[in-house]
Amino acid sequence: MTYNRSRRLFLGRTLAASAVGATGILTSSGLAMANQAAVEKLYYGPKPGIAKLNANENPFGPSPDAIKAMAEAVSSGGAYYAYPAAVKLLDMLGEYYGLERENIALSAGSSPILSFAAMAATTKGTILGPDLFWDTTSKLPIKSGGPEIKRVPNTADLGIDLDALYDAIDDKVGMVQICNPNNPTGRIVDPVKLKEFCIKASKKTLVLVDEAYNELVDDPVKNSMVPLIKEGHNVIVARTFSKIYGLAGLRVGYMLGSAENIEWINRYGLGGYTINQAGLAAAIASFNDKAFMNFSRDKIAEAKGIIYDAVKANGLTALPSSTNFVFVNLGKTGDANAFRKAMEKENILIRGQYRTYKPWSRVSAGKIEDVKRYAAAMPKALEAMEKMA
Ligand SMILES: Cc1ncc(COP(=O)(O)O)c(C=O)c1O
Repeated sequence: MTYNRSRRLFLGRTLAASAVGATGILTSSGLAMANQAAVEKLYYGPKPGIAKLNANENPFGPSPDAIKAMAEAVSSGGAYYAYPAAVKLLDMLGEYYGLERENIALSAGSSPILSFAAMAATTKGTILGPDLFWDTTSKLPIKSGGPEIKRVPNTADLGIDLDALYDAIDDKVGMVQICNPNNPTGRIVDPVKLKEFCIKASKKTLVLVDEAYNELVDDPVKNSMVPLIKEGHNVIVARTFSKIYGLAGLRVGYMLGSAENIEWINRYGLGGYTINQAGLAAAIASFNDKAFMNFSRDKIAEAKGIIYDAVKANGLTALPSSTNFVFVNLGKTGDANAFRKAMEKENILIRGQYRTYKPWSRVSAGKIEDVKRYAAAMPKALEAMEKMA
């Protein structure tokens, strides 16, 4: 089966022709400040000419089955609240993981439910995490007077230092959060060590493992901490349909945990009210679609190969990645923000600097033609970066 773009026109999407000029990054939190030129180039997906490699989406999605299911669900169900479809997805997930409905919370992508967990946890103490992890939702409580995140340095190779994290758990910690594989590094933690850590740490505090990229790793089942929930450990796990399933714009994610933890976290927001018929139909149609997932994995591996070749050809290095993005070290004088700006001039969108990690630049393994453009633009962008420095 082929998954070409034309099949996606099933939903009647029309694409504007032009894609010239600068483009910005749109985030849901900054919608009011969005740059209009960026909106025109990115609404309903990037317009031709824009290489969108900045948010770790899977551009090969939605799968053909998901598109068909959405069209049907929207025409027959768009007028109605989506509660029954949500229950259908809960049961599907419950059956797969061997858990009950009360062990699962759904929301529009995993961000809302991760935010609720952050709000709940910070009523008890700080969130503890590595220096580098996907901390967007963990920073949320700070805005309403909650505690700062307590951070533990990463190892020299930007891995997660589990021993240091464990040692940093004290009675002021309300939750320890690990993203595995990690964003933005792409690195994965040894599953045996992570399991040991989760069991030990969860005796002291709640442990959250964000497994947004789990389905992209070589052995997703071996690398998941979900079984610890059934064994009764104080562990919660977040998952999403935004990554391998290619449904980032359809917004479906979920959290798994003990009935008590899920009920407690659900007190901080109505996740169930944030989901919609189209997203649920797509998620239900995609969850067991092995053919589409394998297809996506192959494309991601191909795209990562192109990125690694370009990195090497330009005398740079990058971290090994278990995800659909690569964390590139731009070298001693590297400047991820300047590099991002230089790439943006070529209509190639990548991520800028993370925290104090100035030379580290993240690029997503997107469409093959877009990643090839990134590779081709690299020498010129590096030169422009050096001039900006
Ligand atoms: C590690 C991680 N967790 C969670 C999310 C949130 O994604 P979503 O709200 O689409 O599930 C992201 C998004 O990039 C992510 O990288």
